[in-house]
Parts: sequence; structure tokens; C-alpha cells
Amino acid sequence: MRQPALARDRFVTDDTTTLMAEEVRASLLAPVPFLPSKYFYDDRGSRLFERITRTEEYYQTRTEEALLRSCAANVVARVRPQELVELGGGVSPKVRLLLDAMRQARILRRCVLFDIHRGSLESSLNQLAREYPGLAARGIVGDFQQDVTALGTGERRLIAFLGGTIGNLHPDDEVPPFLRRLRRQMTGADGLLLGVDLVKDTARLERAYNDEAGITAEFNLNLLQVLNDRLGADFDLRAFEHVAFYDEGRAWIEMRVRSRERQEVRIPAVGLSLRFDAGDELRTEISCKYTRESLERRLQGTGLALRAWFTDPERLFGLALLGPDDTPPA
Ligand code: SAH
Ligand code: AVI
Repeated sequence: MRQPALARDRFVTDDTTTLMAEEVRASLLAPVPFLPSKYFYDDRGSRLFERITRTEEYYQTRTEEALLRSCAANVVARVRPQELVELGGGVSPKVRLLLDAMRQARILRRCVLFDIHRGSLESSLNQLAREYPGLAARGIVGDFQQDVTALGTGERRLIAFLGGTIGNLHPDDEVPPFLRRLRRQMTGADGLLLGVDLVKDTARLERAYNDEAGITAEFNLNLLQVLNDRLGADFDLRAFEHVAFYDEGRAWIEMRVRSRERQEVRIPAVGLSLRFDAGDELRTEISCKYTRESLERRLQGTGLALRAWFTDPERLFGLALLGPDDTPPA
């Protein structure tokens, strides 16, 4: 795939679109071009993700939910949080298992939901208002990689980052700075509950990202539609196909779009046009799989340490409770 420059036109209309255009441009000009996966989550992408979580092949969500059911009280007893913060929760009901455990322990005061997709935040906040009368709940629309300072600091907080979404951050380039930034928002008494999908056999992993009903394929191609909608690109979704495979060396699932034909796609707001030959691929997501040991290695130098580790009998998914260690983040 080649990217000839294109005169930027006047498509850019607001600050978030400008930021998006800059980010997409930088990722397309990277040594290995890719598209940032956080842009999957427009209204349609968020709905498609929810449908993925209900497929038979995608074991992550139901496994993590069962795990949370069995360990939420333990986690809450260790941290004794008054406030629950959830990063990238979407519309998932899993957070309620933690809220229920806090309510049961009579310590639940506040809840903060932080997500890039406003629609998901609004519907989750409405749901919480109905189910937890008296709970002080607020939402922050933002990018957890760039805007976590918007959380400020709190008193005895439990920060939940579930679903294995940390796997969508590059393990070398993005995870350590993300964890260091998050650590800076934490006081000594806070906890971070991190959901990680675990390394397992390739067939099981690849099935989870190539479901029979083709919902993951739709989710993947929808990213191109988001670029059409927000950046004025002219991707023809029928001219691309979904690709997902496990890269054992890197321990990540890689999703790509593959061009079915020779074609040129313009992305006016980004000032680039992309030339694809038939078979050319462009990375749209990584989903890193961890072991307890590989996660612990990633924690080095972040100021966070593993306090407790929970996993299901099949060792499909892990929940790591992290807390600040004595060394300040590098
Ligand atoms: N935690 C939920 C949802 C996972 S889908 C679950 O386990 O089912 C990923 C969620 O993270 C979506 O709600 C998406 O909008 C949000 N998200 C993705 N990238 C983000 C970013 N950079 N900043 C904030 N939220 C993000
Ligand atoms: C949100 N995230 C953890 C999902 C994952 O499995 O990496 C996103 C996803 N991509 C394809 N299917 C689901």
C-alpha cells in the first residue's frame, strides 16, 4: 500500500475531528501503517461489539463476568473503595458486579464512567441512575490514553479496566506510558482491576475473531465507514475483506482489512490517498494476550505491582488487582 499526498480540503470541522485526522495521518505514515482501533466505537461499532460479546466464539466477556461474580467481594474487601471508576466500560453490565459488592459492604459512594463513546456513557449512566438511586455517578467522554488526568485523584478508588481492552494497546509502546499516567492519578490506597485475555491455543483465539456469523468482520469493516463519515474518505466497504490471525511471536491477535482489488482511496481530511493492490492489507487492531508473568514484566517501572490474581478454571481470562508500589512511576 502506498500513500501519495493529497491536498487537504476543508472537510475538518471540529477539534475532535482535527485530532482524529492528525492521528490517522500519523498512523498511516508509520513504518508499519495501521489505523487506530479506538475509532471502531461509533454508534454502529459499539452495537456490533456488543453483538460480538454474545457470540459463542467470543468467550472473553462471559468468562470475565463469571470471574467477577466470584471475586468481586474479595477485591472490594482488599481495596475498601468508596468510588468506582470504569475505563472503557461501554454499555457492559459487568461494572454492576463491583458496584453490588461495594453496596453490600455499605461503602459505595460514587462512580465515574470514562469512555470515548458518548452514547454508551449516556445509556450506562441512565441505567445506573435507575438501579442505584442515591449513587453520585458522572461520565467523562475522553481518550483514556490521553485524558486520564481528567479523572483527578480521589479517595479510596477502585479503577476497573475490564474486557481485555488493555490488549488493544501496543504492549511495548503504549502500555507502559498508559499505566504510568494512570498511576499518577492514584493514591496509595487505590486499586486497579485489570482484565486481560490469556495466551491459549491458536485455534481458540482465531475462532473468537472470525465468528461464523461474520459480526467481527462487520465490526472490522465498520472502521472504514467511520473514516468515510468523519474524515470524508471514500472507502468502498465491499472492496475490502476481514482478516484476523494470531501472531504467536508477539502474542497478539492482529486484525486487518485486505483489499480485494487494485484501488485508490482518498481521505481528504488527512491529506492522503491510499493505493492498494489486490491482497494488500492494513492493520486495524491488535489484541494482545497475556500471561501472569508477561503482565508482571509490563508493570516494571510503572509504579504498580500485582496484589492479587484471579483466573477461571480453564485459564482463559485473568483479572489482576494492581496497587501502587513504593517506587514512584518513572
Ligand atoms: N469493557 C467493555 C467494553 C469493551 S469495548 C466490555 O468488556 O465489554 C471497548 C470500550 O472501550 C468501548 O466502550 C470503547 O468506546 C472504549 N474505548 C476504546 N478505546 C478508547 C479510548 N482510547 N479511550 C476511551 N475509551 C475507549
Ligand atoms: C475491546 N477489545 C478487548 C476487543 C478485543 O477482543 O480485542 C475488541 C474486539 N475486536 C474484535 N473483536 C473484539
